[in-house]
Amino acid sequence: MKAAIIYSSITGNTATLAEIIHEKMEKQGLSTDLIPVDEFNENQLYEYDVIAIGTYSWDNGELPLEMEEVYEAFEMHDTKHIITGVFGTGDSFYPYFCGAVNVFRDMLYVHSKLAVTLKVELTPQEDDINRCDKFCERLISEVVVPI
Ligand SMILES: Cc1cc2nc3c(=O)[nH]c(=O)nc-3n(C[C@H](O)[C@H](O)[C@H](O)COP(=O)(O)O)c2cc1C
Repeated sequence: MKAAIIYSSITGNTATLAEIIHEKMEKQGLSTDLIPVDEFNENQLYEYDVIAIGTYSWDNGELPLEMEEVYEAFEMHDTKHIITGVFGTGDSFYPYFCGAVNVFRDMLYVHSKLAVTLKVELTPQEDDINRCDKFCERLISEVVVPI
């Protein structure tokens, strides 16, 4: 079983969250690649059984431009078997808090086995660490281990 985290971050909040989740997935025994979106190419989708998407939100809860390639890759390729989760950071000052998480959630629900979502206010705080644990547990609980 192999996992990846594909994420985008401008000011570092989502990168911090991605790093926390990465560490926790590895600790829970799932070998996980941490992939900034500028290093992503769509053929990588075929290498992974589990993929967590990390995104900030922009412009009325929209996807960041650079995440559109990832979004479209799930729509265009056969990704139904991939267990997915989506997490993000946002600012509740804006009307569509973490709107990009919802945008990915709705697409991944159709095009993959969506297991879990997580929204964090700006930089992850102490409370969010437990929520990251739960995010990883939910993702990993969907993995079927053959015996
Ligand atoms: C111009 C602008 C628009 C934004 N729009 C939203 C938004 O619609 N919804 C939201 O939750 N956060 C919004 N944010 C806040 C960012 O998503 C938030 O600061 C996020 O943590 C940035 O992630 P990063 O540090 O990984 O780049 C916006 C920020 C800026 C500067």
